Amino acid sequence: MKRVITYGTFDLLHYGHINLLKRAKALGEYLVVVVSSDEFNWKEKHKKTYFNYEQRKQLLESIRYVDLVIPEESWQQKRTDMHEYHIDTFVMGDDWRGKFDFLQEEGVEVVYLPRTPEISSSQIKKDLYDANSVEGKSKTSHEDINTDPQSYM
Ligand code: CTP
Repeated sequence: MKRVITYGTFDLLHYGHINLLKRAKALGEYLVVVVSSDEFNWKEKHKKTYFNYEQRKQLLESIRYVDLVIPEESWQQKRTDMHEYHIDTFVMGDDWRGKFDFLQEEGVEVVYLPRTPEISSSQIKKDLYDANSVEGKSKTSHEDINTDPQSYM
């Protein structure tokens, strides 16, 4: 069974992530997703996520292409993960092109897949922030939505 691995933060899960996971899984039969822990995100990537690690893990576990979700705690763990999880193929989006070629030394194939254009977690956060700043007040609060079915009859 060919085993594939990929790494990322996967905050505010979006269709760019799903496209990546679908194509990663198609390269083999078993997909491991290594998700940056909250501490790793903050200390090493200087990113504060909207969803915490457990929430991001739960979302990823519910995707049909994903077989196993484990935490990313350090930059160094990639080399050991390749052996611990018996990986054949390492996959990342092409924003990381060339950065992980050294993993070939561990006997794995390194593949960079084209990113899905015009979507990212940071862009979603920025767009929502900008939209709400213009409006002054959020129009998407749950309290603003009419959830009374009778009123539509
Ligand atoms: N990815 C992708 N296409 C996108 C966004 C992400 O293929 N439009 C891929 C990335 O290349 C990476 C994985 O999804 O391999 C996880 O990316 P992540 O950094 O968590 O997502 P982004 O949306 O890029 O988040 P951010 O804006 O915070 O960098």
